Amino acid sequence: MPKKKKIAAEVISQKVLAEGIMDLKLKTVLAEDANPGQFIGIYPKNKSTLLPRPISICEFDKSEQTLRIVYRIAGSGTAEFALYDDNTMVDILGILGNGFPTDKADAKDVLIIGGGIGVPPLLGLSKELFDKKAAKSVKMVMGYRNADTFLADEFSKYGDLYIATEDGSVGTKGNVIDACRENGIKADVIYACGPMPMLRGVASYAKEISAKAYISLEERMACGVGACLGCVCKTKNIDEHSHVNNARICTDGPVFDADDLEI
Ligand SMILES: Cc1cc2nc3c(=O)[nH]c(=O)nc-3n(C[C@H](O)[C@H](O)[C@H](O)COP(=O)(O)OP(=O)(O)OC[C@H]3O[C@@H](n4cnc5c(N)ncnc54)[C@H](O)[C@@H]3O)c2cc1C
Ligand code: FES
Repeated sequence: MPKKKKIAAEVISQKVLAEGIMDLKLKTVLAEDANPGQFIGIYPKNKSTLLPRPISICEFDKSEQTLRIVYRIAGSGTAEFALYDDNTMVDILGILGNGFPTDKADAKDVLIIGGGIGVPPLLGLSKELFDKKAAKSVKMVMGYRNADTFLADEFSKYGDLYIATEDGSVGTKGNVIDACRENGIKADVIYACGPMPMLRGVASYAKEISAKAYISLEERMACGVGACLGCVCKTKNIDEHSHVNNARICTDGPVFDADDLEI
């Protein structure tokens, strides 16, 4: 695995994608090491907020050395990032975490499920699976609160897209699992990212349809590099070193085999 680096990156574009959702492109050599499902830490310039904010890589271009991230303005750090113009220099830490195991898709029926701000990292994954053409089929189900279905038009370039909205304004009224059921979607392999209740639903749907599920946990983090234990999650297997049923999301994840987790 490439060494993690703290490095200055340049903002090359930023736009509003939907209400409170920003689309930011960074120029950085770290893009050369990126894989779908990995993330970076972005340091706010405001020194009262010391910790880097973990944000998933939405897309990357290794030859152009660019990373695209899509984030929701949640608090002081992300509110600061939203003010950055072209040419702003920003300190980032990366590339962090393990991405989605894309080799598991080979010759399989694949289902990609995203919810809310868990949707962005799945765009790079969908593009990679589309480019590799190794999967038997790829279906995507994305869940949103309302008709602000950010990134949906881009997903639809890479496979069959189904949408669920909480208010029923687009697609299935309900959550992503409701959309899977409504459309009779079955698969051998599921990749998912979203809030924990959604991921629990994905893990149990995977059992129901006898699929393997790889899920990305976007829980609270502090150091991002495995030092503080601020991000541990419960696992079924005992860790050989610590002898406890814990894994660090930042370094052992954020993507896990759902069968290995107690969620
Ligand atoms: C591996 C990983 C990948 C992520 N990818 C993305 C992404 O692609 N796009 C995106 O918008 N967000 C993503 N997040 C969430 C993002 O890190 C938080 O929204 C961000 O750190 C909030 O920082 P802040 O300073 O703006 O808000 P704060 O003032 O720190 O917090 C504001 C609110 O956000 C909540 N929050 C803080 N950190 C997290 C967190 N890690 N997860 C969930 N809620 C949090 C707080 O509980 C609080 O309610 C990711 C988180 C992780 C761990
Ligand atoms: S955030 Fe510090 S160990 Fe994961």
